Amino acid sequence: MILISLSVFGILSALLFFRDFAAGPKSRKVCIVEPGKDGSDDAPAVIRAFQECGKNGRVEFLNETYHIESVMNTTGLDDVEINLKGTLLWGTNIMYWLNNSMPMGYQNQSTAWILGGHKINFQGHGYGTFDGNGQVWYDFVNDESNYPRRPHALAISETTNSVFEGLRFVQSQMWTMTLIHSSNVLLHNIYVSSTSNSNATPSNTDGADTIYANNITFSNWSVTNGDDGISPKANSSNILVENSTFIGGSGLALGSIGQYEGVFETIENFTALDCYFKNTIHAAYLKSWTGQQVNYPPNGGGGGLGYIKNVLLQNFTLDNVKLPLSFTQCISYSGIAGVDCNSSLLKMQNVSMVDVRGTAQEEPVASLQCSASSPCHDITIEWLELKSSNGTAMVGYNCDNVVGTTGFNCTGRTCGKSSVDGTC
Ligand SMILES: *[C@@H]1O[C@H](CO)[C@@H](O)[C@H](O)[C@H]1NC(C)=O
Ligand SMILES: *[C@@H]1O[C@H](CO)[C@@H](O)[C@H](O)[C@H]1NC(C)=O
Ligand SMILES: *[C@@H]1O[C@H](CO)[C@@H](O)[C@H](O)[C@H]1NC(C)=O
Ligand SMILES: *[C@@H]1O[C@H](CO)[C@@H](O)[C@H](O)[C@H]1NC(C)=O
Ligand SMILES: *[C@@H]1O[C@H](CO)[C@@H](O)[C@H](O)[C@H]1NC(C)=O
Ligand SMILES: *[C@@H]1O[C@H](CO)[C@@H](O)[C@H](O)[C@H]1NC(C)=O
Ligand SMILES: *[C@@H]1O[C@H](CO)[C@@H](O)[C@H](O)[C@H]1NC(C)=O
Ligand SMILES: *[C@@H]1O[C@H](CO)[C@@H](O)[C@H](O)[C@H]1NC(C)=O
Ligand SMILES: *[C@@H]1O[C@H](CO)[C@@H](O)[C@H](O)[C@H]1NC(C)=O
Ligand SMILES: *[C@@H]1O[C@H](CO)[C@@H](O)[C@H](O)[C@H]1NC(C)=O
Ligand SMILES: *[C@@H]1O[C@H](CO)[C@@H](O)[C@H](O)[C@H]1NC(C)=O
Ligand SMILES: *[C@@H]1O[C@H](CO)[C@@H](O)[C@H](O)[C@H]1NC(C)=O
Repeated sequence: MILISLSVFGILSALLFFRDFAAGPKSRKVCIVEPGKDGSDDAPAVIRAFQECGKNGRVEFLNETYHIESVMNTTGLDDVEINLKGTLLWGTNIMYWLNNSMPMGYQNQSTAWILGGHKINFQGHGYGTFDGNGQVWYDFVNDESNYPRRPHALAISETTNSVFEGLRFVQSQMWTMTLIHSSNVLLHNIYVSSTSNSNATPSNTDGADTIYANNITFSNWSVTNGDDGISPKANSSNILVENSTFIGGSGLALGSIGQYEGVFETIENFTALDCYFKNTIHAAYLKSWTGQQVNYPPNGGGGGLGYIKNVLLQNFTLDNVKLPLSFTQCISYSGIAGVDCNSSLLKMQNVSMVDVRGTAQEEPVASLQCSASSPCHDITIEWLELKSSNGTAMVGYNCDNVVGTTGFNCTGRTCGKSSVDGTC
C-alpha cells in the first residue's frame, strides 16, 4: 500500500516537475487574435498580438478570415509560436498598397508584411492560408515587370533558427516570400499557387526568393505559379530544396545576379534533390546580367561581379518541360538591343545535373550561354533518360564558352542571346 502510493506520488511529481520545467520561468503568454466581424482591418490587432506575445509567447489565429488592409511590420520577435488556423486575406485597395508597401531591402522591392526574429515557429497545420487577392494585381500591372511598389506577400527578414510549416500561399500579390538577411530556416510542407483567370499572366509571382541568406531548407513544397519557383539570389549559400513539385512557371532560378555595377554577389552550395517539374520552362536556370550596365535597377542594370558555384541538381522527374537546363549570362532590361553577351565577368562553376528522367518539349537538353570574358567551368550532365515530345531520346547540348564537361559533349552553339522563356 505504502509502496504503491509512493510510486504514484513519484510519477505525479515527475509529471508536475516536467510541466513546471516546460512552463517554468519561460511560461508562454498567449495572444488570440479575434477577427473583426464587419470586414474591417484586422492588421492593427495582429500587430498588437505580436507586440504583446512576440517574445516567449504564442500568437493564435482562429479558423476565421482576417482582413488585412494595411501593412504589418512584426520584426524583432524572439522565441515565438505562431498558429495560423484561418485565412489572412489581403485587401485590394491598390492605391493604398502602392503608397504604403514597405521596402524589403533589395532591388527597390517592397512588401505587405515584414516578419522577423529568432526562434520563430510558424505553423499553418496544412490549412493556414495567406491569400494575397492577387488577381487584382495581375490585371492591374498587366505583365509590366517589377511594377514599382507592387507588394510581395511576405518578407522574412533578419530571421534565424526558425521553422515555417504547413502553410498555404494563394494568389500572391507579387513574389510570395523572400528570406532576406536570414539563416538556419526550415520551410516545410508549403503549398503555393498563384494563377490568373484573365488574359494577364500571374507575372512575377515567384514562390520563394533568398537574398543574403544562409542555410535555408525548402522541403516538400508544391508551387504552381507564373515565374521563378524557388530562386536563390544575391549572396545565398547552403540552400537545399528537396522533395518539391513545380508546376507552370520557370522552375528553379539561380539569380539573376550581377545587376549592380561593380557589386560582388554570390550563390554558393545550392542543392536540389528529388523534385518534379510539370509544364515549367526549365528545371533549373542560372542567370546573370551582362557586363555592361544599361539603365538602372530594378528595370535595368548589369556589370556586377561574383559567382554561382557548387550547384547539384539530382533526381528530377520532368513532364513536358521546355528546356531542362539553361545558363545565360546575358540578362538585360528587355527591349534593349545590341547588348554584349560575352561581357559578363561573373563565373558559373561546378554545376551538376544528374539522374533526370521524363519528357521535354524539344531539343536541346541544355543551353549553356556563358560569357567569353568568363567561361563556365566544370559542368556535369549525366544519367539522363529524357525524351522529347515525339518520343525521341534527347541528345542536344548547346554551349558557348563552356570549359570542362563531364557526361556530355557540346553538340552546337546557343543562339547567343538571353533566352528567358527558353526560345531564341
Ligand atoms: C474551419 O471552419 C470551417 C467553417 O467555417 C470548417 O468548414 C472547416 O472544417 C474548419 N477547418 C478546420 C481545420 O477546423
Ligand atoms: C496615396 O498618396 C497620395 C499622395 O501622397 C495621396 O494623395 C493619396 O490619397 C494616397 N492614396 C491612398 C489610397 O492612400
Ligand atoms: C520595422 O520595424 C523595425 C522596428 O521598429 C524598424 O527598425 C524597421 O525599420 C521597420 N521596417 C520597415 C521596413 O518599416
Ligand atoms: C531604387 O532604389 C535606389 C536606392 O535606394 C534609389 O536610388 C532609386 O532611385 C530607386 N529607383 C526607383 C525606380 O525607385
Ligand atoms: C542549418 O539550419 C538548421 C535548421 O533549419 C539547423 O538545424 C542546422 O544546425 C543549421 N546548420 C548549420 C551548419 O548551422
Ligand atoms: C507534404 O505537403 C503536402 C501539402 O502540400 C501535405 O499534404 C503532405 O502531408 C506533406 N507531407 C508530409 C510528409 O508532411
Ligand atoms: C514528398 O512529396 C510528396 C509529394 O508531394 C508527399 O506526398 C510526401 O509526403 C513528401 N515527403 C516528405 C517526407 O515530405
Ligand atoms: C555578398 O558576398 C560578397 C562575397 O562574399 C561580399 O563581399 C559582400 O559584402 C556580400 N554583400 C552583402 C550585402 O552581404
Ligand atoms: C560550401 O560548401 C563547402 C563544402 O561543404 C564548404 O567548404 C564551404 O564553406 C561552403 N560555402 C559557404 C559559403 O558556406
Ligand atoms: C527520387 O525522387 C522521388 C520523388 O520525386 C523519390 O520518390 C525517390 O525516392 C527519389 N529517389 C532516390 C534514389 O532518392
Ligand atoms: C523529334 O524531335 C526532335 C526535336 O526535338 C527532332 O530533332 C527529331 O527529328 C524528331 N524525331 C522525329 C522522328 O520526328
Ligand atoms: C565526348 O567526345 C569524346 C571525344 O570524341 C568521346 O571520347 C566521349 O566518349 C564523348 N562523351 C560522351 C558522354 O559522349
